[in-house]
Amino acid sequence: MTEKKRIVSGMRPTGALHLGNYHGALENWISMQDTYDCFFFIADWHALTSNYENPGDIPAYTRQMIIDWLSAGLSPEKSTLFVQSHIKEHAELFLLLSMITPTPWLERNPTYKDQIDQLQSKDLSTFGFLGYPVLQAADIIIYKALGVPVGIDQVPHIEITREIARRFNYLYGNVFPEPDAILTKMAKILGTDRRKMSKSYNNAIYLSDSPEAIMKTVSQMITDPQRARRSDPGNPDVCNVFEFHKIYSDTSLISTVNEECRRAKIGCVDCKKLMAKNLIEALDPIREKNLYFNDHPEIVDDILAAGEKKAGRVARDTLTEVRAAIRL
Ligand code: TRP
Ligand code: SF4
Repeated sequence: MTEKKRIVSGMRPTGALHLGNYHGALENWISMQDTYDCFFFIADWHALTSNYENPGDIPAYTRQMIIDWLSAGLSPEKSTLFVQSHIKEHAELFLLLSMITPTPWLERNPTYKDQIDQLQSKDLSTFGFLGYPVLQAADIIIYKALGVPVGIDQVPHIEITREIARRFNYLYGNVFPEPDAILTKMAKILGTDRRKMSKSYNNAIYLSDSPEAIMKTVSQMITDPQRARRSDPGNPDVCNVFEFHKIYSDTSLISTVNEECRRAKIGCVDCKKLMAKNLIEALDPIREKNLYFNDHPEIVDDILAAGEKKAGRVARDTLTEVRAAIRL
């Protein structure tokens, strides 16, 4: 038997996961668990790079994130699940990599400038924020990952990771493979207001939402903007509710909605109710597991401890090799 290819990926703990996170990343991770040797971690140190003024939320968000992961189907039997800050070797490797990373590589990183522009309210002119991709490189190569499942927005970071690995190997000898980005096709799922689904836009549906909350959020969804009255025919092709039907409803309902909307035979209120019912049903098992894990914190602790043990072993071995290569 050939060994499974190792992949590594992380998420910053920003609170409860919504459907955008689920369809944009988590669903893909879940499906990779049987084919790959998966290391998935919660990047709490990365959360600190832009949230250093309010670190207080990070532990609760970390907790919420691992519970959402487990509830949605990441399995500790299949994957190694852990918290970044539990493995101190990430920090040591980050420091060593920072010695060999030219600052222009970081300054020209497109996400660096974007974020500084976008998050005007925060002072991101810090060393830690500039070094974000160096920490990310450490996260990845410390496990000698061959692949990194990410969205397209993360590709520049994986490119920097490859450059740093290459430079390390050139300077000190061959220790690290150069990982490939494994692109997740980006979720088409939009928020209730048709913008990208995001916590900060207040337009999201969360995996752990109650049926009532989902009903309410769905009722607020913007539909075909041209359809002002019930008697106007609609166009499902431009309607976000229809996108949700395509994911959560069966083929016969999808084609009924598709036809009846165009002939004004179904109204948006009813159409949304049908969709919400299916969405609620699809999320039922996730919501139940969420309650279960919230009631059994010790199970979650054990899972994280086991992940820490396994990841820690690999990380320590790599650091032993790294120190030897640098002759430290
Ligand atoms: N930068 C990633 C994001 O914002 C999170 C992350 C941190 C990550 N370390 C990583 C992703 C290592 C993949 C591999 O989504
Ligand atoms: Fe969208 Fe459904 Fe309304 Fe058509 S009937 S516009 S698909 S919500």
